[in-house]
Parts: sequence; C-alpha cells; structure tokens
Amino acid sequence: RMQLLLRENLASLGRMAAGIAHELGNPLTGISSLVQLVKRRRRDDSFIVEQLNLVHDEINRLTRLTHQMVDLARPEDTGKKNFDIMPSLNKAFQIARLDPKLRKRIVKMPGDAPPVLVEANEDAVVQIVMNLLFNAADFTDENGLITVEVKHGADAMVEIRVTDNGSGIPEADQPHIFDPFFSGKKSGEGAGLGLSVSHSLARSFHGSLELEKSDPGGTTFLLKLPCKGT
Ligand SMILES: Nc1ncnc2c1ncn2[C@@H]1O[C@H](COP(=O)(O)OP(=O)(O)OP(=O)(O)O)[C@@H](O)[C@H]1O
Ligand SMILES: [Mg+2]
Repeated sequence: RMQLLLRENLASLGRMAAGIAHELGNPLTGISSLVQLVKRRRRDDSFIVEQLNLVHDEINRLTRLTHQMVDLARPEDTGKKNFDIMPSLNKAFQIARLDPKLRKRIVKMPGDAPPVLVEANEDAVVQIVMNLLFNAADFTDENGLITVEVKHGADAMVEIRVTDNGSGIPEADQPHIFDPFFSGKKSGEGAGLGLSVSHSLARSFHGSLELEKSDPGGTTFLLKLPCKGT
C-alpha cells in the first residue's frame, strides 16, 4: 500500500509540475517577444545585442524544460492491451486484502464468469480497483459489505461497479471527490489522491470513473472501460 501511495504521489506531483510548466509558458513567450523587440530597437549597440542574445538563449532553455516537464507528466497510452478483466479484479482483491481493514469487511467478488475482454492498461485497472476497495473499506464499519460487479454496458463499454453499504459521501463533498488532495478523512489520514489518480488513469485509456450513487445507505462507483470489439 505504501508503494501504491508513493506511485500516486509521484503521479500527482508530475501533474502539478505539468500545471506549473504549462503556466510558465505564457510569461516566457511574453518575455521572449519583449527581448526581440528591444534587440531590434537597439540593433546598433553590439553590447546590448550580445547580452540580449544570452537572455534569449536562457529563455529557450526554460521553454524546452517546461515542454519536458509537461511530457513527463502526460499519462502514457503505452501498456494498453486487450485482456480479460476478471483475473485483474481478483488480483486487485488479493492485494487489497493484505490490508487489515479490508480483511474485516465482507467482499463479494463476481463468481466464475466467462472472460470479459477490455482494452486498457492492466496495471492501472488493478490500481483503480484497489483504490475503490480501500475507500469502501475506509468508509464502512466492521463487517461492512463491499460488492464488485461486472457487466457489458452500452456504447461498447464494460461496466465495473464497486458498491459499499458505508456512510456515503456528504452531498457538499461530492463535487470535490475527484480533485487532487481532496479528502473527507480526518486531517493526516488521507492524501486525497486515490480518486483523482484513478480518474486520470481511467481517462488515459478512454474509460471513465464516476460516482454513480451515494447516500447515507452507501456508495457506488462506476468504472467504464472500452471493451474489445469482437
Ligand atoms: N466509498 C466511499 N464512501 C464514502 N466516502 C468516500 C468513498 N470514496 C471516496 N470517498 C470520499 O472521497 C474522498 C476522496 O477519496 P480519495 O480516495 O481520493 O482520497 P482519500 O481516500 O481521502 O486519500 P488516499 O486515497 O489518497 O489515501 C474521501 O476522503 C472521502 O471523503
Ligand atoms: Mg482513497
């Protein structure tokens, strides 16, 4: 779980870096044009031109750096392949169950079922489902019930639902749950990254993650993954 959190933190740091890099782009473009303008006005002063050329080189260097930062954080499309979702769900369950809290919940996994092929990144799917299981465990009491269901939905998407009978998400919190660093847990207990990372991962292979239902009786998250066209 530590490793998972570390990976999530890195991913979110990457997105933050990309956000900053992107915002740096605008002032850099502005400074660059101003330097060009002054250079043209003072083209007879060789000392000024020389200094401004240095400034310009440095601006270019910063611009390249910001592009690199954005590239680094771009969720890769790589690692996308067709696979049967059922063993991945099981894998997520097996790993998540190492967490003592989850072991004290009743988890109903889909029973023996024919293969359900999806097109996604297998590691990422395991990570998303684990995050949903951890959250479900965090917000249910001991002996709480968590259910994982799979079915073919509309628009060639496979639908995976993770449902718990826990406390539900307060209505005021619902619009924020996918924001990075939003956590409804006591301060220090949640990084608030699980859902935001899972949401970006799902989108990176053209799936989606949404809150389908939440009330004081429990919560259902719906993960949709592109299904392999037959
Ligand atoms: N199944 C759930 N039941 C009730 N509230 C939930 C559930 N899942 C998510 N939430 C709410 O959404 C918030 C954000 O969830 P998220 O997984 O992103 O962060 P976290 O669990 O607080 O921290 P982290 O996952 O980084 O350890 C939670 O803190 C909680 O308030
Ligand atoms: Mg979480």
